[in-house]
Amino acid sequence: MLALDPGTDSTSQTPFRMLLLRKGSEVHAFVNRCPHFGVPLAARQEQLLQQPLASLTCNVHYARFRWSDGRCESGDCEDESLISVPLTVDTDGQVHIGSPTASN
Ligand code: FES
Repeated sequence: MLALDPGTDSTSQTPFRMLLLRKGSEVHAFVNRCPHFGVPLAARQEQLLQQPLASLTCNVHYARFRWSDGRCESGDCEDESLISVPLTVDTDGQVHIGSPTASN
């Protein structure tokens, strides 16, 4: 997983804004925002609760989201999803990020 820096120094308390999840050549991106209360799943990358290739868990009330599509599979926002960010990976392996859209 790679989190994009929000454009401030590394000592900032500003939460990272996006989650980039990679499995081989497959990459998924989600906004770092829990659909339950609209707060970040984790304020800092090292605080993110995750089972790589399986799930992400919100630090606040522990809703669990599927790694593959951001769908909440248990917790207070069951049947909601993280906001998916469209992206493409070009032939050089560079990731190009588009505008976020809600996925349901
Ligand atoms: S704020 Fe994420 S589960 Fe409640």
